[in-house]
Amino acid sequence: MPLPKAELHLHIEGTLEPELAFELAARNGVELPYADTDELRKAYQFEDLQSFLNLYYELMAVLRTEQDFADLADAYLARAAAQGVRHAEIFFDPQAHLARGVSMGTVVEGLWRALGTSESVHGVSTKLIMCFLRDESAASALQTLEAAKPYLDRITGIGLDSAEVGHPPVKFREVYEAAAALGLRRVAHAGEEGPPEYITEALDVLGVERIDHGLRCMEDPALVERLVRDRVPLTLCPLSNVRLRAVDVLAGHPLPAMLDAGLLCTVNSDDPAYFGGYAGDNFAAVRQSLGLTEERLRELARNSFLASFLEDDEERRARYLAEVEAYEFGSPDAL
Ligand code: ADE
Ligand code: ZN
Repeated sequence: MPLPKAELHLHIEGTLEPELAFELAARNGVELPYADTDELRKAYQFEDLQSFLNLYYELMAVLRTEQDFADLADAYLARAAAQGVRHAEIFFDPQAHLARGVSMGTVVEGLWRALGTSESVHGVSTKLIMCFLRDESAASALQTLEAAKPYLDRITGIGLDSAEVGHPPVKFREVYEAAAALGLRRVAHAGEEGPPEYITEALDVLGVERIDHGLRCMEDPALVERLVRDRVPLTLCPLSNVRLRAVDVLAGHPLPAMLDAGLLCTVNSDDPAYFGGYAGDNFAAVRQSLGLTEERLRELARNSFLASFLEDDEERRARYLAEVEAYEFGSPDAL
């Protein structure tokens, strides 16, 4: 049985496996510039965040109908459940779809077909977080928030993703203020490729409650002290960091040092179809490469539920936390 965990940093478009990409391409008459799934997989050699994003946006062309989004989310939830995910807070990138003529309604209603039945079908509770693309304009983010207004009963929060460097959090002050006024929870990617100052700015200017990645906080001891003091969760993605070269090798990942410093770290998969593993695979990889003890692994699982937006259902959070405490570790490669 896998370790019970919450996944808090997961881009639904990043769960598009090559097989499903080809199936959807055929269904929608979309031509992909790859002969087959093997050739597509060979393209998964990334130098940095941008080289990944280029392929990530290109493959989204196959997502056209509500059913496509439902099939995508359902496939993710099945895989996540098999790896012990009990609760998932799922990012989506509406601007990437709106730009292709796919409406907000198609995306949200499609995802909801899978999310709405996820508990009964997969045993996974879910929340939806709408991300703004930081390499698009602030005006576009505001328009996107406007387009999402009819669907806010389905959207828990907002996030900020895509190319980080050169697009500091302050660019999105206005849309974050507007989202806060609507009662939306706030997170943002910061300190993945961008400097530690972006983390500080996301906290101070955008009022975020969690930092996605946040790896580069380790360059600023005063920032680490603040994150520890304020119990700001960081949603780390170890296999993503290796594939996008934020770290050289997994054995050199700062996760153990971050835990030793008292940071509230969680382990997540980011874009699992592209980075070689889902949530449980990330746990197993850090256990193996970083020699994390069972108590450290339990702490990471506990943190994932503590950092989740389950304030509307504390009873559920308590149940999940009890599952973590009762967990008995077995085979070292199944987490
Ligand atoms: N979009 C999808 N994955 C991302 C990542 N790791 N960083 C920024 N934007 C993303
Ligand atoms: Zn991400």
